[in-house]
Amino acid sequence: MLDYISDKVQDETRQGEAFAPFTVDPNQYKKLFYIESYGCQMNFSDSEIVASILNKEGFGATRNFEDADLVLLNTCSIREKAEQTVRKRLTEFKKLKNAKPGLLIGMLGCMAERLKSKLLEEEKLVDLVVGPDAYRTLPGLIIEAESGQKAVNVLLSRDETYADISPVRLDSNGITAFVSIMRGCNNMCSFCVVPFTRGRERSRDSVSIINECRDLFERGFREVTLLGQNVDSYYYQPLQAPQREGMAYTQGQLKENSESSQSEVSAKVAFPIGEGRDGAEIVTFPNLLEKVALISPLLRVRFSTSHPKDITDEVLHIMAKHENICKYIHLPVQSGSSRILQLMNRTYTREWYMAKVDRIREIIPDCGLSSDIIAGFCTEEDADHKDTLSIMEYSRYDMSYMFFYSERPGTLAERRYKDDVPLDVKKKRLQEIVDVQGKLSFVSNKNDIGKTFQVLIEGDSKRSNKDWMGRSSQNKVIVFPKENYQFKKGDYVTVRVNDCTQATLLGQIIIN
Ligand code: 5AD
Ligand code: SF4
Repeated sequence: MLDYISDKVQDETRQGEAFAPFTVDPNQYKKLFYIESYGCQMNFSDSEIVASILNKEGFGATRNFEDADLVLLNTCSIREKAEQTVRKRLTEFKKLKNAKPGLLIGMLGCMAERLKSKLLEEEKLVDLVVGPDAYRTLPGLIIEAESGQKAVNVLLSRDETYADISPVRLDSNGITAFVSIMRGCNNMCSFCVVPFTRGRERSRDSVSIINECRDLFERGFREVTLLGQNVDSYYYQPLQAPQREGMAYTQGQLKENSESSQSEVSAKVAFPIGEGRDGAEIVTFPNLLEKVALISPLLRVRFSTSHPKDITDEVLHIMAKHENICKYIHLPVQSGSSRILQLMNRTYTREWYMAKVDRIREIIPDCGLSSDIIAGFCTEEDADHKDTLSIMEYSRYDMSYMFFYSERPGTLAERRYKDDVPLDVKKKRLQEIVDVQGKLSFVSNKNDIGKTFQVLIEGDSKRSNKDWMGRSSQNKVIVFPKENYQFKKGDYVTVRVNDCTQATLLGQIIIN
């Protein structure tokens, strides 16, 4: 039962999805690539950048790995299980490689960054190892690998944002899209490997973000999700953006570079608020959110992920002001115990988090809320676990991603603390967390019965092409019969909820 839970509840649903362009691609390609993505939404978004780079090199996407000349796995390192899944998947390509000796196999993403050339020793099958900031060098690396050499580039960069690369929308429904606004993370949560695999935080040029969102809207998309590990610390200062050339650095240099990041911080306050050098406009996250919202009232805007310490009243007020900014915040708590939060280096206490939830509910009374929760972090006791259960009840999350703690090599927690909660205790606590969330989701959905919501139609429901599937502003999935109305994907409709399950609202179109 628990294994079932750990597959179904802890991992997002799209793991290992293979991608190809949604529409038939009219271009003729000399070669084909196949890409599978694992982990967070950022990886899925990066695969779209990789696809764009490869298209320019004459590689077309295929959904069948048997047809591919290049097989890529865009990997995740966040938990041990994510890495095991990828390693297992790799063995399945062995036969293919034996039958097709010219086939190249590449590892991209966080596992590539974490293991570097060690991956080549451990996985003999692999020809290419490319970290998340090195995708521009893929064409050269492929040529190198084609000549029979193993090719590796895992340099992290201080300023790579792929701002000028127009992502190829893979497997898109044509209505909702993810737009990356920043990369990396400076937070150093003690359990997390991301600061090591994705490097330091950097924000993408706001003009390129807005242009990408406007372009998506003009192509018929109706919802953009602004993506980043920590979107609320978005900060773009046009004239101070460093040059890309010569700025690459490796993980080993991360520490030395922390001094220069100090000077970056002091540079940030050297100008009047809102202005950079020569009066160039500084763009913060609330500014960016508003600019994207102003593209059109018909374009919905979402964002993810928010660190509780960084989401400000200003963001909440901008959300409240614009109807098309969705009333939904993913606000990972990780633990409800102040003691554990301190060990996790989350920089807030239980009470501080609860006050943040109060503030959200005060400014945006109908806001949907979700969380990430870790069971069984180092030294966690029953009392700490109870604090987690009670903060869940307090926050009334509509949904959560729930995990048990998995020690990751090189993280602060691995170096400082003992992973001392036995696996069976971790799993038992996780099960209790899952149960509480199940109950909260069901209560939250039941509370919506009788209410009406504006729903953006994303497509047919999974079960029947007689039903539409869409989402409310609060990010809840709503399924409702098409009836005889002539609505289509991308339309907004008013839907009254008349039933629900734990995961889905069921409704009916209301015509005023
Ligand atoms: N073990 C378990 N869960 C983790 N997460 C990050 N690192 C770990 C780890 N070592 C979870 C956190 C984070 C989410 C993306 O993954 O809850 O918010
Ligand atoms: Fe990891 Fe914390 Fe950064 Fe999220 S905010 S990516 S959990 S270090």
